[in-house]
Amino acid sequence: MYLQRLQLFNFKNHSQRSLEFCDGINTLTGANGVGKTNILDAVHYLANAKSYFNGIDSQIIEHDKTFFTVKGQFEGELPAEILIQFEGGKKTIKKNDKAYPRLLDHIGMIQTVFITPYDIDLVLGNSEDRRRFVDLSLCQIDKAYLQNLSTYKKALEQRNALLKTMQGRYIDPDLLSSYDAKLIPAGILIHQRRKEFIEHILTFFTTVYQNLSSGSETPSIQYDSPLNNGDFATLLADTHRIDMAAQRTSVGIHKDDLIFGLGEFPLKKYGSQGQIKSFIIALKLAQYNYFQAVTKNHPILLLDDIFEKIDEERAQRLIDMVGASGYGQILITDTHSSRVETHFQPIDANKLHHHL
Ligand SMILES: Nc1ncnc2c1ncn2[C@@H]1O[C@H](COP(=O)(O)OP(=O)(O)O)[C@@H](O)[C@H]1O
Ligand SMILES: [Mg+2]
Repeated sequence: MYLQRLQLFNFKNHSQRSLEFCDGINTLTGANGVGKTNILDAVHYLANAKSYFNGIDSQIIEHDKTFFTVKGQFEGELPAEILIQFEGGKKTIKKNDKAYPRLLDHIGMIQTVFITPYDIDLVLGNSEDRRRFVDLSLCQIDKAYLQNLSTYKKALEQRNALLKTMQGRYIDPDLLSSYDAKLIPAGILIHQRRKEFIEHILTFFTTVYQNLSSGSETPSIQYDSPLNNGDFATLLADTHRIDMAAQRTSVGIHKDDLIFGLGEFPLKKYGSQGQIKSFIIALKLAQYNYFQAVTKNHPILLLDDIFEKIDEERAQRLIDMVGASGYGQILITDTHSSRVETHFQPIDANKLHHHL
């Protein structure tokens, strides 16, 4: 499946914009601030029913407008028109003019992999940024995961609300256990899927990293979770006292993290800028490979300001990699038309260029 036409109304700075894309390499160029990243975000929105950057939909609406729509015409095995509208605090998604009963029914139709300069937070930011990467990888291909994640978040909110209301006072263990019971099944399944995901991507990730970096160091990803240390139910029961005092839930998959390393060293502390960037790109291409393995389809690859992110030599290696067969539709942005054209010239693929 590929996106053949994108139409935006009041989507961030795009009052009205219609773009055609080919099933190949699409370049979007233009000065800073014209809205190139916003277009890639709109494509991400079509697949995931939310912005990559901003979870608050009302802020996606163009200033002083009351609604936005994103429409995408997908071509391929199962052509479909997807329309997402947000107005009056309400989001609706239609496929071929028919509204989905629930938003999550739509997720999984299309997969997107987004590589943007903002991804630096994946390494330098906190554990939430890394969990978000894992969740986005799994939610796009596994509805049960998406459902479990939403169940878990709700149950966690309720448990934390109880702990908070009690302000550190004693809570009947049976009452607290009844809250635990809601967290446990979802938590165990999420843990299992996250573990499988990391195990699955490791080999491909390592190969891509070494390809990009030309360095000899071995990159590593460790899945760190309280649930690695024992049975979730027991862990929760054992921390009842601690949770009552802290007024929040101290164990669970909401504490998970990924530990990134190069050789024996933590990437965050010792990685050079180039190494960190290669690491992130390798992670994203591993995500791409994972989607492809699971769905047997090409995800849409969104490459935002790739030349700002990495030096030209690394960028050329990335382009050679994704330009080779095995990749489907690519949307790539750059401030310089000539630069992006030079780099893509040798690649034999469908190409389309837009200058905004
Ligand atoms: N809700 C919004 N309404 C209007 N403009 C917005 C909104 N959100 C972001 N923008 C504008 O979009 C522009 C940035 O677009 P962006 O896609 O990042 O540009 P580029 O990637 O081409 O540099 C900024 O000028 C910003 O103010
Ligand atoms: Mg941009």
